[in-house]
Amino acid sequence: MKVDSFAVAAALIASSIPSVTATGGNNFTRRCGRLIQTFKNPNTKVLSSGYVTKGTNVTYPDIHPTCGQGWIVAQADMCRLSLNVTTSSTSNIIMEVWLPENWKSSGQRFAMTGNGGVGGCLTLSDLAFTTSLGFATVGHNNGHDGLSSLPFLNKPEVVRDFAWRATLVATQVGKAATNFFYQSSLAKSYYIGCSGGGRQGMKIAQDFPEEYDGIIAGDPAADFHRLVAGGLYYSYQTGPPTAATWLSLEQWKAVDAEVLAQCDTIDGVEDTVLEDPLRCNPRFETMLCGQLETWATHQCLTPAQVSAVEKIYSPVYGNKGRFVAPRFQPGNDQNLGFYLIYGSPSELGVEYLRYAIKNDASWNLPPTLDEFLDIMDDLLDNDPIGVSANNPNLTPLKNSGHKLLVYHGESDGYYSHENTLRLYEATARNMTLKAKQLDDFYRLFPISGLNHCGGGNGAWFFGASGQNGLGISGVDPNESLIMKMVSWVENGIAPETLRGYQVNPLTGRLEGAIRDHCRHPLKNTYKGVGDPLAPENWECKLGTKYP
Ligand SMILES: *[C@@H]1O[C@H](CO)[C@@H](O)[C@H](O)[C@H]1NC(C)=O
Ligand SMILES: *[C@@H]1O[C@H](CO)[C@@H](O)[C@H](O)[C@H]1NC(C)=O
Ligand SMILES: *[C@@H]1O[C@H](CO)[C@@H](O)[C@H](O)[C@H]1NC(C)=O
Ligand SMILES: *[C@@H]1O[C@H](CO)[C@@H](O)[C@H](O)[C@H]1NC(C)=O
Ligand SMILES: *[C@@H]1O[C@H](CO)[C@@H](O)[C@H](O)[C@H]1NC(C)=O
Repeated sequence: MKVDSFAVAAALIASSIPSVTATGGNNFTRRCGRLIQTFKNPNTKVLSSGYVTKGTNVTYPDIHPTCGQGWIVAQADMCRLSLNVTTSSTSNIIMEVWLPENWKSSGQRFAMTGNGGVGGCLTLSDLAFTTSLGFATVGHNNGHDGLSSLPFLNKPEVVRDFAWRATLVATQVGKAATNFFYQSSLAKSYYIGCSGGGRQGMKIAQDFPEEYDGIIAGDPAADFHRLVAGGLYYSYQTGPPTAATWLSLEQWKAVDAEVLAQCDTIDGVEDTVLEDPLRCNPRFETMLCGQLETWATHQCLTPAQVSAVEKIYSPVYGNKGRFVAPRFQPGNDQNLGFYLIYGSPSELGVEYLRYAIKNDASWNLPPTLDEFLDIMDDLLDNDPIGVSANNPNLTPLKNSGHKLLVYHGESDGYYSHENTLRLYEATARNMTLKAKQLDDFYRLFPISGLNHCGGGNGAWFFGASGQNGLGISGVDPNESLIMKMVSWVENGIAPETLRGYQVNPLTGRLEGAIRDHCRHPLKNTYKGVGDPLAPENWECKLGTKYP
């Protein structure tokens, strides 16, 4: 494994390449090193360019501490280009463009990767993986570094980049760099992202669908203010650890177990996975302590705790009676979601409101729920920074002939999949299209037993955004989700189902259930006989009544 601090490598390449003759086999390498002088584009500065061989450990020594691992092993021989693009007098984006050597023989495809949370971190695993499939692939910092909203304080142009502009500008500059480097026109463009990256994908589908032939939006935090509202609402219901309404993590796990006890077999199979969480409406009074019983003696809850649980598993309505956020997702796998409820108020939510909306570093959550809901009502009415990607009218996408594939984990405790179902139905109504007609350009796959983007108790692995960097073994890259989108766009073969695999969390191997996840509104239905781990014993049906 070679360690390659990028700036050093670029300098070495630049100084060693001029001796290679133009007729040698090194044209790719030489032209890559020279991009720093040759690539000219408005508002664009090349920070570095250099050839990287497959297996090289590409490192980011200056990575923001909230962005996690600052390195990735390159999975293709490629040219790596780093750009600084000015988006206004007070904002800029940092971009990576990875240009694989086998691009021309791999279909001349372009791909854009998304960001998570409130953006600001490259999704390095998607960048490396997609490049390994021969796509010229771009990643960008969404106009700021790190996961915090702090860079938004009094920086409206930085906020604008986060809301939508960075995705559009990085697309245009990335395409220009790709076409320039290969001296050829790219054939097809693809977008992949999950969570915040899913929101970016929905923005593309709604606002600039002409840019991408195929858009994959995973667990899209598209109705962003409902994400903020849901996360912060929990803290008003549970209160601080001293409150009578507070539950410990252990108690939340018992609540989750109760949800499964009441709902797991609704789909006919006891496997800790809810095939259709919409059918799960648990009654939490079953957990009430009887006379002289306590949590310590009987693992039961007080009336105040049960009422907090009921509220968290119920939809949130604002002071104007309007719908604000769906209930907490039942069947949550004791994952992210419970930590969100259990900990102090969602930091993402508080920081977003403080820095991006209120522009006041000393702002804090109001003391009462009513005051908080007033803020949320206002954000839902006005979307002051244009962050929401909830426009149901996809007529421009439909007319472009481009494709949108959305998936959402049905055990996503972070941002409920009900948000994504609601947006789909709003599109059906807005465009007056039946599901079969939407299928031509917009397919939604709810994924049972998938948490937020990755992980879960179900057959959650299907080579989607972020999943390819998890070190899962025994996976065929050609079966990954982006290649299914390629088949749809380039061969007209639309995905009917998405085949997902269960993963043994200890070994990282595909093991256990294989499920062909159905597209909305069809539901995976156990045929009643045969091994439920095998996909052929399930079928996609409409309006099935469960036993
Ligand atoms: C190198 O580039 C030149 C000019 O673009 C071209 O004529 C030549 O065929 C290339 N050589 C190889 C080996 O690709
Ligand atoms: C890549 O380099 C980083 C930083 O030096 C190091 O922490 C990491 O372990 C390396 N990864 C591999 C696979 O060598
Ligand atoms: C990118 O360019 C801006 C000016 O537009 C500058 O302020 C910033 O320091 C540059 N960033 C890097 C990493 O070069
Ligand atoms: C569809 O959505 C657009 C954009 O939000 C809106 O202007 C229009 O009124 C909607 N049409 C219908 C029929 O709901
Ligand atoms: C994936 O498909 C490409 C192109 O068809 C092929 O060259 C490659 O061998 C395949 N990879 C695997 C692991 O099957």
